[in-house]
Amino acid sequence: MEPVISLSGVTAELGGRPVLRGVDLTVGPGEVVALLGPNGSGKSTSVRAAVCQVPLTGGELRLFGTPVRRFRAWQRLGYVPQRSTAAGGVPATVREVVTAGRLARRGLRPLGRADRAAVRDALEQVGLADRAGDPVDSLSGGQHQRVLIARALTTSPELLIMDEPLAGVDLASQRILADTLREQVGRGVAVLVVLHELGPLEPLIDRAVVLSGGRVERVVEHSSELPADHACHPHDELDPSVVPPLQTGIL
Ligand SMILES: Nc1ncnc2c1ncn2[C@@H]1O[C@H](COP(=O)(O)OP(=O)(O)O)[C@@H](O)[C@H]1O
Ligand SMILES: [Mg+2]
Repeated sequence: MEPVISLSGVTAELGGRPVLRGVDLTVGPGEVVALLGPNGSGKSTSVRAAVCQVPLTGGELRLFGTPVRRFRAWQRLGYVPQRSTAAGGVPATVREVVTAGRLARRGLRPLGRADRAAVRDALEQVGLADRAGDPVDSLSGGQHQRVLIARALTTSPELLIMDEPLAGVDLASQRILADTLREQVGRGVAVLVVLHELGPLEPLIDRAVVLSGGRVERVVEHSSELPADHACHPHDELDPSVVPPLQTGIL
């Protein structure tokens, strides 16, 4: 089946400096791929390139099989940017921020009943329906993150791209986010998620792609089918340095 997203040999520059130096990354339908790597390794730039927020200087990007220059169906994709800690300017309500997620679908038409229902449904999924009228800057970091995820869910995307959704998020919100993600994955939604560590999302991850210096350093398939007691698995006969385990700590 056609990948929902594929980057092949993608290069990109920021401030005149090469930041991505040939990134290959593919997510298939329904797959959950984690993008790991140290700070500055190009994780955010990779996902921003994938949603056309950073121009490519080389390589190829396809979304749902379509070369990006011809891709128009942005509602098939939900993007949750890395949360900035800087305070915003104009205070917006939770509902306003989440409603912005419908823009790709709505175009210039006024907000309709379907839009309002989608916003309500997305807020319910992240457990914030009762906060819809509150200003976003009255929320905790974890709640704010949930608002951004609700915004990405309003178009019922087939691919969710999230940049460090658990960073600076309290444990209660982490659990809600993990539940929300599990539900999305259960519906067949594909996920590309930048993580500092796998943490509570580990059971959902099919593959981890580790970046270093703007390149893919290694790819680790997560064989979740492995029984808990897998002492007889053939991999165990190999030198562990040959088959690196899925790292769960800070990389
Ligand atoms: N707007 C920018 N202008 C110039 N350099 C940038 C910009 N954004 C990021 N960079 C640089 O690009 C590199 C990769 O950044 P980033 O993709 O944010 O890494 P990560 O998300 O893995 O921490 C870093 O060296 C960073 O300093
Ligand atoms: Mg980043």
